[in-house]
Amino acid sequence: MASPHDLQARRETADLNGWRQAIDQRLAHHLKPQELGKTLPCNQSLSRLWQAMAHGVLGGGKRARGLLVMASAQAVGYEPLSESCLDMACALECIHAFSLVHDDMPCMDDDELRRGKPTVHVAYDEATALLVGDALQTLAFELIAQAKDIGDSTKIEILRSLSRATGARGMAGGQAIDIHRVAQMLHQPELEEMHSLKTGALILASAEVGALLGLGPSALRSSVYSSIQSFARDLGLGFQVLDDLLDVSASTQALGKTAGKDAQAEKPTFVKLLGLEETKNFADRLHQSAFSRIDGLDDRANALRDLAHALTHRQH
Ligand code: IPE
Ligand code: IPE
Ligand code: MG
Ligand code: MG
Ligand code: MG
Repeated sequence: MASPHDLQARRETADLNGWRQAIDQRLAHHLKPQELGKTLPCNQSLSRLWQAMAHGVLGGGKRARGLLVMASAQAVGYEPLSESCLDMACALECIHAFSLVHDDMPCMDDDELRRGKPTVHVAYDEATALLVGDALQTLAFELIAQAKDIGDSTKIEILRSLSRATGARGMAGGQAIDIHRVAQMLHQPELEEMHSLKTGALILASAEVGALLGLGPSALRSSVYSSIQSFARDLGLGFQVLDDLLDVSASTQALGKTAGKDAQAEKPTFVKLLGLEETKNFADRLHQSAFSRIDGLDDRANALRDLAHALTHRQH
């Protein structure tokens, strides 16, 4: 007889893979070079930028943030495969890809491999990588602004959530701590704050955006919304704790990015602070806590549970 664990794994394969393909197709649609218009006089330089953007976004990536938008939307009764939901998933993936393109640049982590391919500054050049990040960030906000079937007051809350999560009080702030605290020992509360900002903030925003689609601005007074937020906070911190662990325990081939970079660059990580075994225990505790936050939600939250399960057991 199948154990509950097997059942969970089977359900994950059935739903999330299809959703991932739908995100990939929609991203490819938004990143078609002809979107620029062929009549512009500087078309060649522009299409090079557009190709570099596609290089950074398409052909790889787990799509964890896009999937979280969809799972969170479904948890509150909003159709995950609707055009508006897929566009919000694309917006999250564009912001995430922008953060990766900049994270890999020589002035930050100086990485040459991402998603099994040369990083954007290697495949193109540094100035282009900088512009790719800028252009992907604004593309995300354009997708939100132009989305059909989302009321204006809901859009404003979505914009508030995503802009906050991307900027100095979110991802950019966390990245600032990350690069300035190299070779320093951070204590657990500081490390948790750094990880919650650089990675957790966008994961929280993904869950918020999905829930806002279904609940509208009144989400801010809803207990379901706060449960989903608490779930996403644990999931987001756990996601980066596991990323620290995988940097040490997985191979470059499995990761599609260079393994062992954190120790080499003397980054403050959970593995450095707690060691391998305790880091794994901490990640497990965070994931258990994430599950318990949505205990009270009905079966429509199963995709959230499946996604958390898949991310907890990921190998890259
Ligand atoms: C990598 O994110 C960077 C972190 C924030 C940990 P992912 O592990 O989600 O990378 P992709 O999108 O699957 O490549
Ligand atoms: C990245 O953290 C967080 C971002 C905001 C992109 P890492 O620097 O650990 O991500 P990887 O390991 O390069 O994917
Ligand atoms: Mg980094
Ligand atoms: Mg990095
Ligand atoms: Mg890492």
